[in-house]
Amino acid sequence: MRRSPARTPEEDALLQKAARLLPGGILGGYSTPPELAFVVREARGARLYDVSGREYLDYILGSGPLVLGHAHPAVVAAVERQLAKGTTYFQVSEPTLALAEEICRAVPCAEQIRFTSSGTEATFFALRLARAFRKRDKILKFEGGFHGTHDYSLMSVGPRSPKAYPAPLPDSAGIPHAIQEHVLIAPFNDLAETEAIIAAHHADLAAVIMEPFQRLLVPDKGFLAGVREITRQFGVPLIFDEIVTGFRFAYGGAQEYYGVVPDLAALGKIIGGGFPLAAVVGRAEIMRHLAPALEGTPEFVVQAGTLNGNPIAAAAGLATLEELRRPGAYERLFATGERVKVALQDAARAAGLAAQVAGEAPVFEIYFTERPVTDYRATLSADRELHAAFTRALLERGLVKAAQKFYVSLAHGEAEVSKTIDIFSGALRAVAAQRRKDCRGGQANLAQQTTKVRRYGV
Ligand SMILES: Cc1ncc(COP(=O)(O)O)c(C=O)c1O
Repeated sequence: MRRSPARTPEEDALLQKAARLLPGGILGGYSTPPELAFVVREARGARLYDVSGREYLDYILGSGPLVLGHAHPAVVAAVERQLAKGTTYFQVSEPTLALAEEICRAVPCAEQIRFTSSGTEATFFALRLARAFRKRDKILKFEGGFHGTHDYSLMSVGPRSPKAYPAPLPDSAGIPHAIQEHVLIAPFNDLAETEAIIAAHHADLAAVIMEPFQRLLVPDKGFLAGVREITRQFGVPLIFDEIVTGFRFAYGGAQEYYGVVPDLAALGKIIGGGFPLAAVVGRAEIMRHLAPALEGTPEFVVQAGTLNGNPIAAAAGLATLEELRRPGAYERLFATGERVKVALQDAARAAGLAAQVAGEAPVFEIYFTERPVTDYRATLSADRELHAAFTRALLERGLVKAAQKFYVSLAHGEAEVSKTIDIFSGALRAVAAQRRKDCRGGQANLAQQTTKVRRYGV
């Protein structure tokens, strides 16, 4: 199926330029099959428009920051007001301080905050802080968990053939071999195994870092509390990576939503309102290692960045949080997400496909498998070709999503939801029909149509 209207010569030329100038023609986090590639001209609410004038329902939302949708009037106005006052200072400013105060008021573990520009930096510095505090080097992360693209994070994020726990497998070329010695891997939602690894290695551990809602995996009842309990018992700082969940699952993030409070947390995405801003927050006892009073001592943690706490980003973040504080905002976000999620499961059933829709209402994904998706290894049982064909079929029908996630926003209204439901059933019927045809013909045509699944940065 081809998108209509067809791509214009102007957009073709831009895509050729992208292919020449950008490795793979992309920015690193999202790609499409070449014949469906497009260049964004603008976006409003829940819709994107490409240079050829084609419209897309957007379930990427800038990879998550735009919980209000694109170009929300309150965010645009706040940014315009701040623009006239200057764009960056490298010093404390009013919007940055107001955002710091609001985050520390909202997030249970946040006694103090240090801003960074990206989520990758936030988790990287949270780990450095924990090492300085604990005076140990090793960290424990969970298989399938993603904390950005630094060397410690890219361990066992997406192993196709995982090793025995707690051995890590690097996900990228270019990571020094020595880093592997400093990272242990545990299975998400397996408390007994996690406890056993922590009990065996606690004397070397600087931190346990985890996404409390890992990619699309909902924590089993008692799992987060169990990890909290054992880390507290051994005095190992627990870091929640709340870059996705912060201010999304509840105003206080996953720590409020699931009721478990870590020692440190990394925040990003929503708090920057669509601009580059992220943060490390946590207990003052640990955060104090960042204070210049310690400079020159072995306790001091160096962390600085040209755009740390950028005032434009802070103004956008504050405006976003103000909208989220309006009565009913979270109820609406969850109700929309739930409707879309249930519609997706129903459409898969109607198309005769075995599928599990995993996640929480604001962030979810479909896995084509009969097995319930409660741990990373269960995700390996899913049919990747079918999933990539489905993602492609959505794009052909004008719905754009990341390779492995649907984000919903407050801008997804009735019109967007009903259009989405129609697109789901058309796309799922089409891939199911293709699958039946392939089976009859004994060949894997779906494989030829699919794009490579990208796992990172969503
Ligand atoms: C859970 C999680 N941690 C960290 C990151 C990295 O954030 P950034 O892309 O801002 O570096 C991401 C990005 O998607 C993420 O989903």
